[in-house]
Amino acid sequence: MKPATTTCHHRIIALTFLLAIALVQAQVAFAQTRNITVQVNQPAGAIPKTLFGLFFEDINFGADGGLYPERVKNRSFEFPNPMMGWKQLDRGDSKGQLYVFDHGSVNETPNSHYLRIKSDGKAFGVSNEGFRGIGVQKDAEYKFSMRARRVDSPPVTLHIEIEDGNHVVGETQVVVLTNAWKTYEATLRARDNISKGHLNLIVQGNGTVDIDLISLYPGDTWQNRPNGLRSDLVKLLKEMKPGFLRFPGGCIVEGRYLDQRYQWKTTIGDLDERKLIINRWNTEFNWRLTPDYYQSFGLGYYEYFQLAEDIGAEPLPIINCGMACQFNSGELAPLEDLDHYIQDAIDLIEFANAPVNTAWGRKRSEMGHPKPFNLKMIGVGNEQWGPQYVERYEVFAKVLKQKYPNISLVTSAGPAPEGERFTFLWQKMRELKADLIDEHYYMAPLWFRENSGRYDNYPRNGPKVFAGEYAAQSVGIASPDNRNNWECALSEAAFITGLERNSDVVNMSSYAPLFGHVDAWQWTPNLIWFDNLRSYGTPNYYVQKMFSVNKGTQRLPILLDGSAKNGQNELYTSAAMDEVTREVIVKIINTGSEAKETRITLSGAQRVAQSGKAFVLQSEDLKAENSLDQPTRIAPVEKQLQLADGKFSYSVLPRSFTVLRVPLR
Ligand code: AHR
Repeated sequence: MKPATTTCHHRIIALTFLLAIALVQAQVAFAQTRNITVQVNQPAGAIPKTLFGLFFEDINFGADGGLYPERVKNRSFEFPNPMMGWKQLDRGDSKGQLYVFDHGSVNETPNSHYLRIKSDGKAFGVSNEGFRGIGVQKDAEYKFSMRARRVDSPPVTLHIEIEDGNHVVGETQVVVLTNAWKTYEATLRARDNISKGHLNLIVQGNGTVDIDLISLYPGDTWQNRPNGLRSDLVKLLKEMKPGFLRFPGGCIVEGRYLDQRYQWKTTIGDLDERKLIINRWNTEFNWRLTPDYYQSFGLGYYEYFQLAEDIGAEPLPIINCGMACQFNSGELAPLEDLDHYIQDAIDLIEFANAPVNTAWGRKRSEMGHPKPFNLKMIGVGNEQWGPQYVERYEVFAKVLKQKYPNISLVTSAGPAPEGERFTFLWQKMRELKADLIDEHYYMAPLWFRENSGRYDNYPRNGPKVFAGEYAAQSVGIASPDNRNNWECALSEAAFITGLERNSDVVNMSSYAPLFGHVDAWQWTPNLIWFDNLRSYGTPNYYVQKMFSVNKGTQRLPILLDGSAKNGQNELYTSAAMDEVTREVIVKIINTGSEAKETRITLSGAQRVAQSGKAFVLQSEDLKAENSLDQPTRIAPVEKQLQLADGKFSYSVLPRSFTVLRVPLR
């Protein structure tokens, strides 16, 4: 047995030891609590309404096969191979011939081709493969339409069906009565879901018929418009509350050659007045060839303006400035020959803004929109560089600025966020007093984390910045292995706090590209992915959306442990006041793998409500992604925030993006 004094002595030592540990732990915890101070009583300036917007380009089947929900590919036989997407269909012992004609159609220019089906048997016709298949939804209605005429034969009956190789899910019959071109329409209701089906047109018995402008169009379009857009995709866009919509690109504006550039006038009017051209992404990447990629322009300039209006975004069209893509031919329109290009820009502004008693205003009105679209800005060229760009921009700017002093011009800073081309263009554009300079950064996630302070020291006078195309590349620019993973999204979030803090200089920003068809893409990563029936927002989408819907109206200074430097200790922050809802909005990104304890002080806030809200986007797994089957694996979670007064503690989850909304009373 031990003496009592020894036991007591041991106890004292053990207690002292435990106390010491507790003290160290308390000190560590105290040291790890970061102080975030939002200077609510020192608003630093208005946040531009356009700070967060959208970049749309017809890449990855973003228009035809995507936002533009026409199911029939090559519907007018105008692809260079007029039968691309179509194949002959014989049923049983039937016989027949197919002929493509290049004149005699309803509209000779630009839609001259049509198909003749001559059936000598029981059931002979054609099948269309759609855009990587035809998708239809159970119980939904689809409008079939075509131009047709019978040829030297009695009325011809066409059997129309949608099938996927296993079963027919919708069918109807159309009787072509006359030998003059006429539009025939029918409605099909799908009995089942299929995402990779075909549309078949089969002549019953003997007969010859000419067909053109074949269409299978969903009844459910955005706002139920005929020729309307795919509603699930527009919904995803609208929910972001975007400040602007840039269209139609991107390199597509430039074309590989000048004759393949985007020309807005050929994209408006009746569908068969719109001139199909190749999509420049068709053969851009050897490892992702899409030889069936063309632009039908069913989604054209009128629809872009309408889309911008529908989702509450300012339209921002980008026009060709007489330069083809410098990554391809780099073809140039001679300087003394730019009139045609400039006239296109002028006419575009007129089409958007002029009253209905003018030629272009009337055209807009005839298409269904008498009210002007109120265009306020236009991009001169896309991602151009070099002195040849500056020379052309100057010619454009001289004319446009004189005629439309209130229209802002967006100019290029080239394809990279630094380097010789970038520095040259910034210097020149500064001298020329450009309005908005479009910077592009397709960089590694680390670059985004390291560059949250990029704009802290940009000059406060002179041109404003449009961060017009950016996305973190998990592998490298244009790599087909890039992923829309959480590391990329979280790094972008860290970077965007820097855009918010500097929104007196950065007036606009947009992630790029916007859309990717899971079976038909050329470029990755993209903000939103879809197949023929479904769609989902990536973690990057939710980052963009959380910033945009929580933008606020006034910038507020924010300090971490008394310092304004962003990105210390793996914490990135920004703050704003929403003067409409009277809420203080705090954004905190923790890129570290440990939670961070914070003490948040809203300095100068008179009184705060007893509760607020937290929206948290988080995953511990940096490789995590969303998918068609798990569309919201990473999506914001809403939580209640208990508030005693203008000071409160908040534990920031590891690898998370949090938005706090604190109502003032
Ligand atoms: O977003 C994809 C492409 O990247 C754009 O078309 C172009 O502007 C940039 O190089």
